Amino acid sequence: MTAAAIAVDEQYAAHNYSPLPVVATSAEGVWITDVEGRRYLDCLAAYSAVNFGHRNPQITATAHAQLDAVTLVSRAFHSDRLGPFCAALAALCGKDMVLPMNSGAEAVESGIKVARKWGADVKGVPAGRANIVVAENNFHGRTISIVSFSTDESARSGFGPFTPGFRTVPFGDAGALADAIDENTVAVLLEPIQGEAGIIVPAADYLPRVREICTERAVLMIADEIQSGLARTGRTFACDHWGVVPDIYLLGKALGGGVMPLSAVVADADILGVLHPGEHGSTFGGNPLAAAIGTTVVSMLAGGEFQTRSAELGEHLHARLRGLIGQGVLGVRGLGLWAGVDIDPALGTGKTLSLLLAERGVLVKDTHGSTLRFAPPLVISADEIDWAVDQFAAALEDARSRTTDRTR
Ligand SMILES: Cc1ncc(COP(=O)(O)O)c(C=O)c1O
Repeated sequence: MTAAAIAVDEQYAAHNYSPLPVVATSAEGVWITDVEGRRYLDCLAAYSAVNFGHRNPQITATAHAQLDAVTLVSRAFHSDRLGPFCAALAALCGKDMVLPMNSGAEAVESGIKVARKWGADVKGVPAGRANIVVAENNFHGRTISIVSFSTDESARSGFGPFTPGFRTVPFGDAGALADAIDENTVAVLLEPIQGEAGIIVPAADYLPRVREICTERAVLMIADEIQSGLARTGRTFACDHWGVVPDIYLLGKALGGGVMPLSAVVADADILGVLHPGEHGSTFGGNPLAAAIGTTVVSMLAGGEFQTRSAELGEHLHARLRGLIGQGVLGVRGLGLWAGVDIDPALGTGKTLSLLLAERGVLVKDTHGSTLRFAPPLVISADEIDWAVDQFAAALEDARSRTTDRTR
């Protein structure tokens, strides 16, 4: 059954991913069941889109109820769901307004447009001269403008010509960031913790410095919290760890509760107010189904329970993973239930280890080269973490015995 399902994917779905050979057919909480009836502990959570667990009952109840009411009117009309969602999300972020979109990449694109418009209308940057400072090894999505400032050749190669107006500086180097800013800089766009780069946590003074520089130089600080935000790191936003409040939050993934694509640009009225009718939009952005789900997600986050779980269980996960240093693990990084684990390259690539772990019933994915990402749904229990890490230790042993067999 697995092979047949994969064969159909291979034939008809574009080959822009390299998935593990697991064919999901149902899921609940932290567990995914495949078409063979095998169960897997999901330690990826759809790249943090499933922070609240698969088919979280509160979220699916909202979805069911909204399916029976109204799902889409487009922004040509109002719905009774959009306003309450925007109000709740703005309050969670401590900001005035929300621009609802769908995918994460759309939120990033929209954030870039808002920053450029703010530059033109408020800062007085001459038409077509705006620039935005970004970080090396960033990951913000896959559109042409976004890959224009990627430093990953595989994300760019063959996709030119690219969008101009971006300046790249090393992540973590506030001095280089300050030097890259000029009178036409409208924004600094950063992931507070770089996710796809391997869960790279910056030094404690970095984001506070970036905040100061942006304020001093009248530049918008845009935090892409699409993967790091919404309780993943043990706080509502990763920026909270350093007491930093950006001018613009970009949110996505978990905002849609693992049910709907729902993303948002969140900022104060003096920033988002630069958009007027006809200047930006999306047919599905802010649709009633997504907005209802988003409102439930925000209410779940407002209670703080998921942030606490992530912080407490994250400590446990990190401690257990650090225990494997010297046994095939070279290093462990991250915050909350978000860990980047560097594997000894002698044991194989991250992909090899993901395959071995899948055989043992744990689903993770490699980020770059030899780094594995552990990002389970935040509803995972301590026992489940222990079981996953035990399987990981065993998979490292499997990898070691395979390399020993080969060298014999
Ligand atoms: C930090 C960050 N920004 C943006 C995106 C793009 O989101 P999407 O895949 O929903 O377009 C991602 C996806 O992994 C991400 O991690």
